[in-house]
Formats: sequence, structure tokens, C-alpha cells
Amino acid sequence: MPSIRVGEIELSYRDEGDGPPVVLLHGFPFSSRLWAPQIEGLRSGHRVIAPDLRGFGRSPVVPGPYRMETLADDVAGLMDALGLARAAVAGLSMGGYVAFELYRRHPGRVARLMLADTRAEPDDEEGRARRARMAERARAEGTGAIVDGMIPKLVAPATLEERPEIVRELRAIMEEVDPEAVAAALEGMAERADSRPLLAEISVPVLVIVGAEDAITPPAVARAMVEAIPDARLEVVASAGHVSNLERPEAFNAAILDVLED
Ligand code: MLT
Repeated sequence: MPSIRVGEIELSYRDEGDGPPVVLLHGFPFSSRLWAPQIEGLRSGHRVIAPDLRGFGRSPVVPGPYRMETLADDVAGLMDALGLARAAVAGLSMGGYVAFELYRRHPGRVARLMLADTRAEPDDEEGRARRARMAERARAEGTGAIVDGMIPKLVAPATLEERPEIVRELRAIMEEVDPEAVAAALEGMAERADSRPLLAEISVPVLVIVGAEDAITPPAVARAMVEAIPDARLEVVASAGHVSNLERPEAFNAAILDVLED
């Protein structure tokens, strides 16, 4: 897996295929490995670039908090380093928060936006307190301590019961993450801005994707985003939860390709 100097860090990224560029931003607490089914499905017609956001995958663990602004600037820096002026950008959950920041800070770099299983609202008081407790636990007991509690919320009930290979892969992706990166990202997400005021200003075509059974960012949240964005369409992925890209890659990829090739 290649890596490239971006500011103070050596960022790892996957870079496969040829064609118009698409940048894929993973959620929490995952890595670019989350996007394996999309790299596979898109690479024949697109150059697919999936960074390991700082602290995750093979990118180095540096002190946090990992603010969404910093993660977005890392992505813009990666695009600079790769000579990409503009790309379609897809972000899942935390990756969506980063995609909002990328658009806010570097709007000219985003050709199309795909917001998967994410939300524009910031955390409330209770959400911030929950993240602080989770960060403390990860630091004290390791990443494994938070994984078991998260898995049932990340996938649809049927995925949990009937598709052990998906659950196994998800667990493996999560367990690789360093506890300090888990805590630093939680602290960064807790501080994130309210992206609702941005929605009306997005002037590129947007696809909002959500698993029909997403318990973390449910379809109602996705619908509200679609209504607030001038040029947005909605794809609800049947039989999928929060990691809809991993649970139903065919439907997820078809929706993305539809927007990319529009
Ligand atoms: C994610 O999947 O990235 C997380 O659920 C985002 C969050 O905790 O807000």
C-alpha cells in the first residue's frame, strides 16, 4: 500500500484503477479496508483513492484530537500530492463528516458528493459525554473493549444473525485500530461543526445513501439531508444497516456508479 507525505504525516492510501478520480473516506473506527468492495466494483472505470485517515489503518497514530477540519485538510493535501485538482468524494459516517469539512474548506476540489450513512447535525451534550466515556474506555482497556458493544449497532439484525463473514470482516477492521486513534477520533467528532447550514450551499450533485435498517443514522436523517440540499437524490439500501457499503455492495456500488456516470 503506498504512502505519501502530507504535511507532518506520511499518509497511507489505496490507489487503484484508471479513469475519473473518486476519493473514498472511511468511517469510525475503520480504515480504507472498509472500502474493499467499492474498490473492486469501481476500479474498472475509475481511479479509486481511499486514504487511511490519520491514526487509522497504516497511517501513523499522531496526537489528537482528530478534528474533522484536520482530516479534511489531510485529504486535500493527499489530492495535492497526487496531482488531483478535483474528484468525486464519498464519505461514510465519520467519512461524511470529513466530506462536509472538505466541501466547506475546499469546495473547488469536490466534483460530486456521496454521503453514506451520515448526518449533518453535530453531537448534543449527551452524545459528547458518551464519546468521552468511550474514549476513556478505549485508552484504559484497548480497542477490543468497545468493539463488542458497537457491532450490533453497525449492521442490520439479519446481517448479524446470518452473515458471519461480514461481521468477522468488520470486527477485524476495527480490532486493527490503535486505541489512541479511537480516542482521538471520538474527541474530534465530539467537536465537529453543525453542517446543516452548509446543505443549502452545496452546488454539486449529491447522492445520499443509507441502509434501510441503519440504527445510527436512520433513513429519516438521510431524507432530511436530501430535502435541504439543492441537487440531491436518495438511495435507501434494503437489508442493510450502518455499514451499507459492506453489507450490500452491489446496491451501494450501483447507486454510486449511477451518480458518477450521470
Ligand atoms: C461512524 O461509523 O463513522 C460512526 O458511527 C460515526 C459516529 O460515531 O458519529
